[in-house]
Amino acid sequence: MIYFDNAATSFPKPSAVYSEISRCLDKYCGNPGRSDHKLSIDAARKIYSCREKLADLYGFSHPEAITFTYNATYALNMALKARIKKGCHVLISDIEHNAVLRPIHKLAEDGLISYSIYKSGSKEEVIDSINKLIRPNTSLIVANHYSNITSITLPIDTIADYAAAHGLKLICDASQSSGVYPYRLDTGKISALCAPAHKGLYGIQGVGFIINCDTLSGNTVIEGGGGTNSHDKAMPTFLPDRYEAGTANTPGIAALDTAVDFIKRITVEEIGHKENLLKNRFAEGLGSIKNIRIYGNVLESGGIVSFGHRYHAPSEIGRYLADNNICVRSGYHCSPLAHKTIGSGDGGSVRVSLGYFNTKAEIDKALSILSRYN
Ligand SMILES: Cc1ncc(COP(=O)(O)O)c(C=O)c1O
Repeated sequence: MIYFDNAATSFPKPSAVYSEISRCLDKYCGNPGRSDHKLSIDAARKIYSCREKLADLYGFSHPEAITFTYNATYALNMALKARIKKGCHVLISDIEHNAVLRPIHKLAEDGLISYSIYKSGSKEEVIDSINKLIRPNTSLIVANHYSNITSITLPIDTIADYAAAHGLKLICDASQSSGVYPYRLDTGKISALCAPAHKGLYGIQGVGFIINCDTLSGNTVIEGGGGTNSHDKAMPTFLPDRYEAGTANTPGIAALDTAVDFIKRITVEEIGHKENLLKNRFAEGLGSIKNIRIYGNVLESGGIVSFGHRYHAPSEIGRYLADNNICVRSGYHCSPLAHKTIGSGDGGSVRVSLGYFNTKAEIDKALSILSRYN
């Protein structure tokens, strides 16, 4: 089998990740931080270790300001809702995932906020578009750093400088860039970064996180038990407890803790570089196959190529590849906005998304199979 669906969820994981999950379930899977016994204390320690490693990976000095969630969607919903005030105007990009578009749309439908969509493109085009849309009540920008359907990226540092200069909050959706982009969040220009564990960080499903770079201490979105200040009806005011209610996914966070070790050992630069080389090889080969159209700019960073066929729907190609033991995704990939932007709004695209464990031989084999499709 050839697995080219890493943007949906990465596969396989580093072998140490599988062993740590089973070690956790076997040795230290108490309810983290709830009790005085060893299993509970060890579980809490592992979770804190993961917080510290993530903080280090993202160049951020406040591990306590990292909130664990269940995926990127929960992280983005929580980050958005904690920072949005009634009557404010929000700017989102034209490559946002439904994890941003849907909560923003719902908040607007409920009459709480208004929003506009800025254009992706070069640094100048993005800032020009934002400048045209900004209003006196604009308080927040959201940026999907690396698109999940093609190798389009947003100039995150430029947007962050702009947000800081205009006193705006900036939420970065780092779902596809995490693990391949070297973030340095201590500059304080990004207010919150959200990501899942199960994609480019090589953790497993069921864990996501928010890095609250503004060390948020405002509104909570989810309330409940956490093991501290249990006598109090209100959530604790201190971090990380304020934003984490209910039992955490300890085995999933233990997996992420080990996965981050793997990423640090290889380095995000090296992983990003390898994915880019594989992506370029695939895109180059694809370009010479008859009737194939590649969407977006394959030269930008990221390991994703989206394409279509002149005569066949993306779903037909997806099925053909699946029948040949090649795993890709076809359709809209939860990003109707981005498909409109790249011109694949009619039926979506076939998406090949590469990961660290893919090889040149797999790329060549997939190209050869694709070239026989007509
Ligand atoms: C850019 C982007 N944002 C958000 C998400 C949502 O991630 P999750 O499914 O972990 O909630 C995805 C998942 O594909 C994504 O690619």
